[in-house]
Amino acid sequence: MVLLKTKKELSEYLNTLGENEKLGLVPTMGALHQGHMSLVSKAISENEYVIVSVFVNPTQFNNQEDLEKYPKTLKADMTLLSSISGQTAVFVPSVKEIYEKSAVPNTYDFDGLDTVMEGEFRDDHFNGVGTIVELLLRIVKPDNAYFGEKDFQQLQIIRKMVQLQNISTTIVGCPIVREKSGLAMSSRNERLPKKIRKKAAIIYKVLLSAKTKFGMKSAVFVREWVQQEFKKHTDFKLEYFEIAAIDTLTPILEKQKNVKYRAFIAVYANEVRLIDNIALN
Ligand code: PAJ
Repeated sequence: MVLLKTKKELSEYLNTLGENEKLGLVPTMGALHQGHMSLVSKAISENEYVIVSVFVNPTQFNNQEDLEKYPKTLKADMTLLSSISGQTAVFVPSVKEIYEKSAVPNTYDFDGLDTVMEGEFRDDHFNGVGTIVELLLRIVKPDNAYFGEKDFQQLQIIRKMVQLQNISTTIVGCPIVREKSGLAMSSRNERLPKKIRKKAAIIYKVLLSAKTKFGMKSAVFVREWVQQEFKKHTDFKLEYFEIAAIDTLTPILEKQKNVKYRAFIAVYANEVRLIDNIALN
């Protein structure tokens, strides 16, 4: 596996690739698990070459402590990546290499996609995500780039960003990979005490029930049901549960015909914040 640390090394590597061969990019912040690896496998199956970037992007964190505490496990990440067959290169640039003089996010007009749910209390978070993904797409110039539906709002915002910025890369969404219990895989799960991690299966269970109920009841009913359900589970604190159309992400009170909806949830287990989502129809 090739390790690339600078833009120069990256561009030299890109020059060695055949013109007619497809290149896939999987952007990550490291601390890789099977969720990330599913993106890498899909990328390998659809492209001759795959670059996995590992970069903890400072412009998407609004809390310095969160940024500093973000797990850095490059050695284990490399081992995991080398266990998968295929032509993969890992791009691990420094902050200076990427942002040069100043790590400041661009401002995008995401049409309100960025102000709800994950964006409601995190100023500039999605501008930071948009900025790093745009930078990566411009320097790597992949045919395809892979993102998980685990962060469905992020996926839709990235789709919007490439449209706004006229970037020709195809954005590929990949299904959520779950632990056996149903808990969506996340590096944060490692921070949960064993007992709580087991109990956290409730998040997906509630989403599955919400999906069934959404077929028969109103969005308001489902929302209230979820809120009541979490009152019974005192190890968990519900931050939000929203039902939204997949293309606007605006939370709804009433459903309309011929619109695709998803349910989105954020829950605190101790101080660990967990997110998940599910297609409703
Ligand atoms: P990170 O949290 O490392 O996630 C990298 C990619 O893996 C994202 O597209 C995310 O949605 C996907 N992913 C994480 N857990 C998953 C799971 N359980 N199932 C499927 N996909 C999963 O998201 C980021 O990094 C950053 O914001 C980034 C896009 C790299 C920009 O800095």
